[in-house]
Parts: sequence; C-alpha cells; structure tokens
Amino acid sequence: MWEKLEALRAARAGRRISALFETDPQRAQRFTVQTCGLLLDYCKTQLDDESRAALIDLAAEAGVAARARAMMGGACVNETEGRAALHTALRAPETAGAIRVAGEDVLPAVHATLRRMEDFARAVRGGSAGGAGGAYTDVLNIGIGGSDLGPAMAVQALKPYADGPRCHFVANIDGADLADTLAPLDPARTLVIVASKTFTTVETMTNARTARDWMARSVDRPAEQFAALSSAVDRTADFGIDDSRVFPFADWVGGRYSVWGPIGLSLMIAIGPERFREFLAGAHAMDRHFLEAEGADNMPLMMALVGIWHAQVCGYPTRAVLPYDQRLARLPAYLQQLEMESNGKGVAMDGTPLARPSCPVVWGAPGTNAQHAFMQLVHQGTQVVPCEFLVAARGHEPELVHHHRLLVANCLAQSEALMRGRTLDEARQMLAGRYEGQELERQARHRVFPGDRPSVTIAYPQLDPQMLGCILALYEHRVFAEGVILGLNSFDQWGVELGKELAKSVDSALSGSGIGASASTATLAAFLRGGGA
Ligand code: F6P
Repeated sequence: MWEKLEALRAARAGRRISALFETDPQRAQRFTVQTCGLLLDYCKTQLDDESRAALIDLAAEAGVAARARAMMGGACVNETEGRAALHTALRAPETAGAIRVAGEDVLPAVHATLRRMEDFARAVRGGSAGGAGGAYTDVLNIGIGGSDLGPAMAVQALKPYADGPRCHFVANIDGADLADTLAPLDPARTLVIVASKTFTTVETMTNARTARDWMARSVDRPAEQFAALSSAVDRTADFGIDDSRVFPFADWVGGRYSVWGPIGLSLMIAIGPERFREFLAGAHAMDRHFLEAEGADNMPLMMALVGIWHAQVCGYPTRAVLPYDQRLARLPAYLQQLEMESNGKGVAMDGTPLARPSCPVVWGAPGTNAQHAFMQLVHQGTQVVPCEFLVAARGHEPELVHHHRLLVANCLAQSEALMRGRTLDEARQMLAGRYEGQELERQARHRVFPGDRPSVTIAYPQLDPQMLGCILALYEHRVFAEGVILGLNSFDQWGVELGKELAKSVDSALSGSGIGASASTATLAAFLRGGGA
C-alpha cells in the first residue's frame, strides 16, 4: 500500500490543491468530518478520493480498528513494558461494562479514586480542608512531563470555568521556576500537590523537597499541606504524605495520557468536580466515536491519515499546531510530548528498524501571534510545513465579539492564503503603479507566495470542559492510529533514559568527583564548576 500511495503522490505532482475544488464542487462537504460538536476540515490538502481510499486501506491493513478495541479492552498493547494502555478507562462511565486487566475489572477502583478526588476537591474548594492559615488560596502542582503538561494546559484552557483556588505549576529543575512561583504564595494557605507516577523523577522530588523546606519555615506540620498523585504509594508514604491525601493510579496509565485521572486533580480543584466530569464525558464520547465510526467518518483516523500522508508519504518533516484560541497556548507543548514521546521511535514493535520516517517534529504557537513571528517561513520558506488550525465559533468574552470576529477571520485567511498563494503575474499587477522595469520584477519576486501549502482546520462551538476533553481524546487517538500504522509502540519512552543516566555522572563531575564523559563535556563541566571564569 505504501508503494501505491507514493505512486499516487507522484502522479499528482503539479496538481494544485485549489484545482481540486474546481473539479469537485462537493469537496467542502466530502472532505470534512463532524462528530461530538467538532468539525475537521481537510479539504485544503492534496487528498482526493483515490488517495483517501488508499490511506483507509493502509489503516485497515495495519489493523487500526482491531488494535483500538484491544487497547480499550485492556490488552497488553504496551508490549515493551508488558502492560495495557488504558487511559480510556479513566473516562469511562461506571456503567460502561467491565474493562478487565489480568481478569480484574478496573472500573470500580477508577471510580472509587475519582470519588475520593471529588470529596477532596470539594473540601479544598469549600474551605473545609485548609492549611495552617485557613482555607487554601493557592494550589501548587509539582510534576514534570505528563505530570505537568496536561493539567497546566487544561487549567489555562478552562480559565473561564475556574472558580476554585488559584493553580500554579512548577516543573523545571531550574530553581528559578520554583523560586518565582513560590515568591507570591503564602505557605500557610498553599496546598502542594506532588504529581509523579514513579515518585522518583529527580526534578519533581527535588522541587518537592525544596517546597517542603519552604513551607516548614512558617508552618509546623508541612506534610499535612501536601497531597500526592502517584502509582508508587510506598514512596509517597516515605515522603511523609498521609494516605488520605494520596490518589493512586495504575501502571497502565502512561504519563502523557494521565490528565484524566489523579494527575488532573489540580484541574478538578480549579473548575470543580462537575465540570471535570464534563471534561471526562467529552473524551469518552470521542472514544466511542473512534471505536464505532468507519473509514472516512472516523475523525481521529482521518487526522492520522492526513498526518501519515504528509509526514511519511510526502516526507514533510514538521507539523505546526496553531490554536486560534489563546487559552490553548500550551496545547503545542502538550502535543509535543503526546506525539513525539509516543511516536518518535526508531524501531518497530518487533525491534526491526522503521521503514519510514517516524513522527514529524510538532511545534506551534497561538494565532494571531504566530503570524507576526514564524508564519513568514510557512508561507514563503523553501520547506513545506503542514498546519493544523484550531478555532472556536464563540469566545467567552461577549463584550469583545469584535475581537473574536477578527481572530476567526485571521485563522481562515491563513489557511486560504497558504493554499492559494500569489503568482508572479499577480504580484506584478499589484505593484505596477509603484515600480517599473527591473525594479518591478525584483520587487514582484519578493511578493510571490508559492501557495499549495496544506492545512487542516478543527472548528468547534466553544472551548468548554466537554469540548476540551473531545479535542484531547481526538489527538490521543490520532497518535495511536499513526503509531499502529507505523508499526511502533506508542506507549513506551526509552529515548528519555540515556540522558537521565548520564546526568547522574555529569552531576558527579560538577561536584568534583570525576566524570566518564567526552573531553567536550568535561571542559564545559570544568568551566561551569569554576563559576564560568
Ligand atoms: O522522562 C519522561 C517521563 O517518564 C514522561 O514520560 C513522564 O510523563 C515524565 O517523565 C514524568 O514522570 P513521573 O510522572 O514518573 O514523574
């Protein structure tokens, strides 16, 4: 099938995306998918009926649908770590029917923990659980990677629904992150949540100990103002956190897929348990859709197939995510972990080298800011960057609808401009009154846009908890489907280990006790150990 896709691509060289609209008046309807209130438009790509059908065949050959059923049914799909990948169980209603791992239904424990989280969140929000100085005014989540990016992104995304204590996030081992965040906080009225699946991650444990010292300077029993979210409950006890404030989760919840369970506690405290349930319900609706919809009606599958077309068939090495929704400013960072930690692999599930490029580099920033920063390259640079736009029909600021109209206009104009471009003739005509002769020719060339640059647009009514849940689950399943098609394991992350190991020996070098690294690293270590002189 890959050869067929490559042949289809080659046969269409020179055909412009805009020409597809001329030959198919129904394209705008036929190359879109709608579900759960979302609209995915992939008309502005080179896909046509034949290439779409071949991509759907590719997914069928790879067994995406069967693998999705296996994943959501609790099978051991994370083969290199020997476990299930059951984040979908965290958002399944209690009535969904048993989901078994090693013969045991996981839903009762998931919902028991969810209810404990809800009781705790209500107590924190209502003030009956507080610190030495009274009701909590601030919540500090200390975690990194999936124990930070999901809740930090979601709390920002759902700010209009946040009516609980203020939430803050510290991830970096750089003391600047913790120092700047702690500076305005009152230790007597701050709840510290230590979020770490393993409870061994050096950044998180170092920050947690420093935060405990900070609190101990003004609070008699600091451990009572700590809660923990982890799979390693023995370690949370060693840290001194009482079991009543420990919210456990199973090893089958991967870090980058964990915002739906205990790792989402800060979000639940911010928006309240009812809104958090809406967030889960949105994701669950997308799970059902992914399991049930077929072929071109399946939105995550179509997102994956467009991604495969661009990265593996066309060979475009990056993909830009452009939310025209300021509150999704942290979505690109969240997706960088979700997509690149999941599918940035070099070998297939069986250990053989991947035959095709792995996941593209995912990057991006909110519009319209991006237009005034890097979109120059996307429009006129020599490389093609497929873009993903996200935009809501409504904002949350009824008094600022004119801002929202301009935001939407800019979003739609970007995808239109990327596709349409501007020819040399059009540029000449545009400048004819201002320049002439050779100068006209020179100036005109700078104003040519090649166009024919692909993009997809995800549109939705409003960024509310249910919709955010839908959007994140859409991306999770897209990553999963791409991983199955590439034949790799989307649920391990061995690539982060080597740097962690070497950091330990370099750390010894910085403290003067030798180093087993290259001369370059040893020289840098000596310079830094000497204070940079
Ligand atoms: O180092 C990568 C990673 O393992 C991520 O996959 C994970 O989200 C992050 O570290 C944090 O891990 P933990 O929750 O165990 O502290």
